[in-house]
Amino acid sequence: MSKNILSPSILAADFARLGEQIKEADEAGAQYLHIDVMDGVFVPSISFGMPVIKTIRKVTNRIFDVHLMIVEPERYVKEFKECGADSITFHLEATEDAEETIALIRSLGCRVGMSIKPKTPVEAVRKYLDKLDMLLVMTVEPGFGGQKYIPESTERIRQVRKMADEMGLALDIQVDGGITIDNAKVVLDAGANVIVAGSAVFGGNITENVKKYLAQF
Ligand code: DX5
Ligand code: ZN
Repeated sequence: MSKNILSPSILAADFARLGEQIKEADEAGAQYLHIDVMDGVFVPSISFGMPVIKTIRKVTNRIFDVHLMIVEPERYVKEFKECGADSITFHLEATEDAEETIALIRSLGCRVGMSIKPKTPVEAVRKYLDKLDMLLVMTVEPGFGGQKYIPESTERIRQVRKMADEMGLALDIQVDGGITIDNAKVVLDAGANVIVAGSAVFGGNITENVKKYLAQF
């Protein structure tokens, strides 16, 4: 398991100044970059895809943490790897064959993440945990940035950490949605170690915001 990590979500960045803002987050010390890909089917919204990822690959060497909110993710994982993904997270709810998707991402040499939406029982991930590098517990309904943290998520994070500990796994647990400088400590204490933050990093002074998260790690 990695130590505590900040993964700023570029969904909340100013796309007209995307390169600059990514560089600023990188230089302030954010270890990952969270890249939300939405297809308008798995979630209502459409964000961006391969050309954008390929372009921003030139501005930072930080880990590209690609969060696929798309149906049938197995159709596209190879292309995401080729345009620069280091870690690929797919949704359990979005594929008919999670085992195969895990194996495919692994075969590409990427880190493997699986995500569950707030209403999916945490028990559903148990059989996959030992094959994953990271489990993403969504703390809002996926689809949009700037939503409020769902308080029931804290207990879900605790349950996944407990499950991983009981299985002897050094699993990364990522949280995504409504994580602010003020509630980061709550999710860290519950057992999460990879924090995604969009509006709380890119809304305002990026350097200061990143430093405020890192100070709590
Ligand atoms: C939501 C995305 C998130 C989003 C987080 O579906 O997966 O990564 O960008 O944004 P904030 O931190 O603003 O809730
Ligand atoms: Zn995300």
